[in-house]
Amino acid sequence: LRPRDLTGRRVVVTAGGTREPLDPVRFIGNRSSGRQGIALAEAARDRGAEVVLVAAHLEVAAPTGVELQEVATTEQLRVATLDAAAGADAVIMAAAVADYRPETVAPGKIKKEQQGDELTLRLVRNPDILAELAAERTPGRTLIGFAAETESDDDAMLELGRAKLARKGCDHLVVNRVGWNEGFAAAENTVVIVSRPGDIVTRASGTKREVADAILDLLV
Ligand code: C5P
Repeated sequence: LRPRDLTGRRVVVTAGGTREPLDPVRFIGNRSSGRQGIALAEAARDRGAEVVLVAAHLEVAAPTGVELQEVATTEQLRVATLDAAAGADAVIMAAAVADYRPETVAPGKIKKEQQGDELTLRLVRNPDILAELAAERTPGRTLIGFAAETESDDDAMLELGRAKLARKGCDHLVVNRVGWNEGFAAAENTVVIVSRPGDIVTRASGTKREVADAILDLLV
């Protein structure tokens, strides 16, 4: 177990996957389980931090001893995260945030009897919360982003990480491979962390808790 080296720090963690409604009973979502974000919240709590967990659809129970803010959509996650980020020492964006949402939400259930054989969905871009936080960069606040990538090649992952770090403007970017059987639902994780300005690379592998501790080490 790590020492209580985050005592007195305020850490915001987003976890899970956002869901964008199509109608009152359907949504567009992703397969994020929330496990890595929860491991981060637990590890930060155990290391003495005051933790706000902004949770979007978790498949596992949220930890005790953290302030839990439950959200569904990207816009809700945005509002809760920006609010919690004020006064935070670190914001860790582990949630899989939907890049697009349906342009309109049907007031009633979409019915095949009315749609016929084809249904076209029009999606619009969601605001990028991480980029928004980075744009209003606050001294003393560390911003950590995630990138879930399906690239199989290690060098390609690293390049994607560097490019995303620069594009988002955060301090560290954690790249993890996801796929049908990797990343999201699994108990273990393998990540490459790229740190500003992009030439510092840290690798971590193990249980999601071990990976969480390696990520939190960046804060101390
Ligand atoms: O661009 P991409 O979706 O790969 O970026 C992933 C990172 O950015 C994650 O940390 C995620 O939480 C964050 N993100 C965000 N707002 C979005 C999309 C992603 O904050 N609309």
